[in-house]
Amino acid sequence: METRAELRRRIRQQRAALSPAQQTEAAHRLVDVLLPELLRCQVKQLAIYLANDGELNTFPLIQALWQHHIKVALPVLHPFSPGHLLFLQYHPNSPMTANRYGIAEPRLDLTQLVPLHQLDLILTPLVAFDEQGNRLGMGGGFYDRTLASPHAPAAMGIAHECQRVAQLPVESWDIPLARIATPAALYQFTPN
Ligand SMILES: Nc1ncnc2c1ncn2[C@@H]1O[C@H](COP(=O)(O)OP(=O)(O)OP(=O)(O)O)[C@@H](O)[C@H]1O
Ligand SMILES: [Mg+2]
Repeated sequence: METRAELRRRIRQQRAALSPAQQTEAAHRLVDVLLPELLRCQVKQLAIYLANDGELNTFPLIQALWQHHIKVALPVLHPFSPGHLLFLQYHPNSPMTANRYGIAEPRLDLTQLVPLHQLDLILTPLVAFDEQGNRLGMGGGFYDRTLASPHAPAAMGIAHECQRVAQLPVESWDIPLARIATPAALYQFTPN
């Protein structure tokens, strides 16, 4: 089996090889797959991410969420608790800044803080997922720590189809996802 580092490298390369046209198409298909489900579940407030490193562009989905008055929060690197995330409210005119990884995040403003228990859902980025819903991220453990909290709501991954593999190597701290949305399908995984 490939190591976690090898898998990350291979899948990130595959993702980076998607053309701009494929990325645009994928971003719009994701709205078609996910928005009806979020409306059906009456989600009022969720966390999502801004795409980086060839990740599926979530911006069309974010705009659709705003249009439907679903509140959107984004992760921010915790200012003094390494490895942890905070979630801040995201509006069309939120002041943004680039974090230490070069990823855009809302400028730290505690009036915009959304505690985990106020989120109905966390939509996570990922590098690879498998047919059991296991999730491999970029290697920071940020989402594993977030989802390990007793206050964490349900989580759903977002990925391109090319990020699906048969089986991932799993560590004790990895938190699997019950659902993953791609531009082609909404996968539901049953716990083992
Ligand atoms: N709940 C946790 N508490 C403390 N450390 C953790 C926890 N979850 C993961 N870690 C640590 O984080 C590091 C990275 O974990 P891992 O390789 O699973 O990251 P990842 O799932 O790829 O990243 P991410 O969650 O940011 O997408 C590991 O060294 C692991 O020990
Ligand atoms: Mg992990």
